[in-house]
Amino acid sequence: MGKKSKAGRLEGRIAIVTGGASGLGRATASLLADEGAKVTIADLDEEGGRGVADMVGGTFRRTNVAYSADVDALVAETSATHGMLHIMINNAGICPQSPLVEIDDPTFRQVMGVNFDGVFFGTRAAARVMRNQGCGTIVNTASAGAFMPTENMSVYAAAKSAVVTLTRVAAIELAPLGIRVNAVCPGPMRTGMAAGLTGAARAAFENLSPLGRAADPIEMAQGILFLISDEASYINGHALQVDGGSIAGKRAPVT
Ligand SMILES: NC(=O)c1ccc[n+]([C@@H]2O[C@H](COP(=O)([O-])OP(=O)(O)OC[C@H]3O[C@@H](n4cnc5c(N)ncnc54)[C@H](O)[C@@H]3O)[C@@H](O)[C@H]2O)c1
Repeated sequence: MGKKSKAGRLEGRIAIVTGGASGLGRATASLLADEGAKVTIADLDEEGGRGVADMVGGTFRRTNVAYSADVDALVAETSATHGMLHIMINNAGICPQSPLVEIDDPTFRQVMGVNFDGVFFGTRAAARVMRNQGCGTIVNTASAGAFMPTENMSVYAAAKSAVVTLTRVAAIELAPLGIRVNAVCPGPMRTGMAAGLTGAARAAFENLSPLGRAADPIEMAQGILFLISDEASYINGHALQVDGGSIAGKRAPVT
């Protein structure tokens, strides 16, 4: 993983990955670097982010995606340093779980702020740079929960649905400017977000997919790589479900 890049599909391209310190963001940063991209990792987690930046031969910038000024500065700095921005992956996310009636205002704002505002700010900032270049591609991390929500995730699932809709509108508006915008919708994935699950909760999580296991983040990152690659040149406004069949339907109970 990382530094030793072969002649890849993304040779010479400049990329930003938010939430790149951990989980899917980390796997994506690594895969993009393997394919030849220069990657800036943006995250709140400085230690983890710097570690990934070192691993992939990239750059770390501390960023809170819930603040537009932070995201604007991230994009401005990256594009000024490299002269271009080809790829924006708006991936940072949080998923606290609790019943709807118990969610207080600060928690509501925080979950929307990271999962939706952050994606909007990243899409807008990247589009402002990419429109001047006449090219670029953006991938937003949504969730299978946007289509098949589960209890105790009301704000998270709603934010992820909003990400899918934002992705579609952005795709329509930005296509004439040479910019493609897509979303990836992960099913259960073995990352920091699911690290605390044990016992029955862990088993239920692993069994959300008919494959009987949660995904390794690299399996999701491969979906992101496809969406940003030239092979996906006619794919725009799409929400790619990489979920092992989680939302295809349910297995019949054994009789
Ligand atoms: N793990 C799953 O099962 C699963 C399923 C569906 C969707 N997702 C989505 O995948 C994406 C990646 O999550 P993950 O599973 O890799 O979890 P993770 O916790 O391993 O990684 C999330 C990263 O986002 C960073 N982050 C959190 N708040 C931030 C902020 N305000 N600004 C900048 N960075 C911030 C964290 O520090 C962390 O590095 C998220 O959008 C998540 O909603 C995950």
